[in-house]
Amino acid sequence: MNTLTKLALGLIGQLKPLPSVGDQTLRRVLLPPTVNGGMPLMSALAKRHSLREFAPQPLPEQVLSDLLWAAAGINRHDVDGRTAPSALNAQEVLLYVAMPQGLFLYEPKPHALRPVVDSDVRRVTGNQDFVDTAPLDLVFVADHARMKLVPAAKREAYAHATAGAMAQNVYLYCASEGLATVIRAWFDRDALARAMGLQADHQLLLSQTVGAIKLVQTA
Ligand SMILES: Cc1cc2nc3c(=O)[nH]c(=O)nc-3n(C[C@H](O)[C@H](O)[C@H](O)COP(=O)(O)O)c2cc1C
Repeated sequence: MNTLTKLALGLIGQLKPLPSVGDQTLRRVLLPPTVNGGMPLMSALAKRHSLREFAPQPLPEQVLSDLLWAAAGINRHDVDGRTAPSALNAQEVLLYVAMPQGLFLYEPKPHALRPVVDSDVRRVTGNQDFVDTAPLDLVFVADHARMKLVPAAKREAYAHATAGAMAQNVYLYCASEGLATVIRAWFDRDALARAMGLQADHQLLLSQTVGAIKLVQTA
């Protein structure tokens, strides 16, 4: 769906998800993440950039596992430490994954995907057309209930900082693996909160599309 149509539907409160593809109602434990290898860090930094053209094919299972671990996984099991920092280690940013099969919540401890909404909400995660057909859109959501120790006036800013660190982890993983990604703030917050069934103390922060790079054919 093009941007103008999305904006028009958003104005009348009609930007809605599509039916999901397949039947994905069970919690799904991901493959163990590959926690070594990849491109040297400085090379990945040298390659990091945003891309907005995505091939539609699904990401391989191992790539999905590694991507989510890079974004929000546990890298120190003795202290439940995460790959991204958070103020007072509140770990307040929830990572949702929108795919054709439905909307899922990434659970770092069991490294699993929990089904949340049985609809394809990808098209609602952004006003740009590529979000509809890319294989996966991540959605970063602040859980304010986890930030009781953070001064109230700072909670929103700190949650955005955490989401930014998670997004950069995704950028570096994508650079290392030759995948396309772009972090996004341009989406209809009301439509997306409705589509995701978010509670009042859950705040949408950012979204990020990931997929294989779409190869443009030359004549
Ligand atoms: C907070 C934030 C919000 C952004 N929102 C969008 C967006 O909604 N759509 C988009 O296509 N790019 C978005 N971007 C990506 C920027 O446009 C991109 O990072 C910038 O043009 C620099 O390009 P580079 O990432 O390739 O260095 C956003 C970036 C940030 C940090």
